[in-house]
Amino acid sequence: MALYALGDLHLSFQTDKSMDVFGGVWRHHEKKIEKQVNRLVKPEDTLVLTGDHSWGRKLEECREDLDFIENLPGRKILLRGNHDMFWDAKKTERLNEEFQGRLFFLQNNFAVYRDYALVGTKGYTFEGPFYLNRRGQILGWDEKKEQQARKLVSREMTRLREAFRQAWEAGYRKFILFLHYPPTNILEKTSPFTEIAEQYRAEAVVYSHCHGESRFGDSIRGEYHGIKYYLVSGDYLKFRPQLVLE
Ligand SMILES: [Fe+2]
Ligand SMILES: [Fe+2]
Repeated sequence: MALYALGDLHLSFQTDKSMDVFGGVWRHHEKKIEKQVNRLVKPEDTLVLTGDHSWGRKLEECREDLDFIENLPGRKILLRGNHDMFWDAKKTERLNEEFQGRLFFLQNNFAVYRDYALVGTKGYTFEGPFYLNRRGQILGWDEKKEQQARKLVSREMTRLREAFRQAWEAGYRKFILFLHYPPTNILEKTSPFTEIAEQYRAEAVVYSHCHGESRFGDSIRGEYHGIKYYLVSGDYLKFRPQLVLE
């Protein structure tokens, strides 16, 4: 039994949105996902998909993408990404009823893996615009947008605290935290997300969203303050799921 994570499948079986313009790694990427996931993930395993599943804007435009995910091996747990327009955070329960026994939508709730509680939310982080000089050093940033970002971070933290609270009340003391956005941005060493991970002594923080060579180093990777940080964007991993726990 193993716990794997992979993010940003960006499927588009029903929409006219090709990812090919983003580089060779995205060419026929659904075939790569199918091949890599089938090679690694066994039916008894758990696979957490960390958001940006589908380009469809409504659930009806995502049916084939969600079918594709359902047909991958293992138990599938989904997190909300910034592109998952089909998933209204307030209607998560409805999705969980509809997909019961097939897909689990992780939001304001938690999932169990062995004696671990898996908690997660989309997260948020300020991504600029940053004002750079010719050498690429940061001279400043859009402060209005940064203010806006603080509000979104605080909303996401409310949701995350609720998930941790539920898991704690249910008796769980071991946690893995999943986020779609990276836990910190290029200006930060810590954030409310790293703080809550430390407060609950999460063993790992798993996130995606960062695409392309120039963004892979935006946040924490490796061990920091005793917690393992994994970037699991599909293109970063070449669609090979990351092993989080055995
Ligand atoms: Fe993405
Ligand atoms: Fe994203």
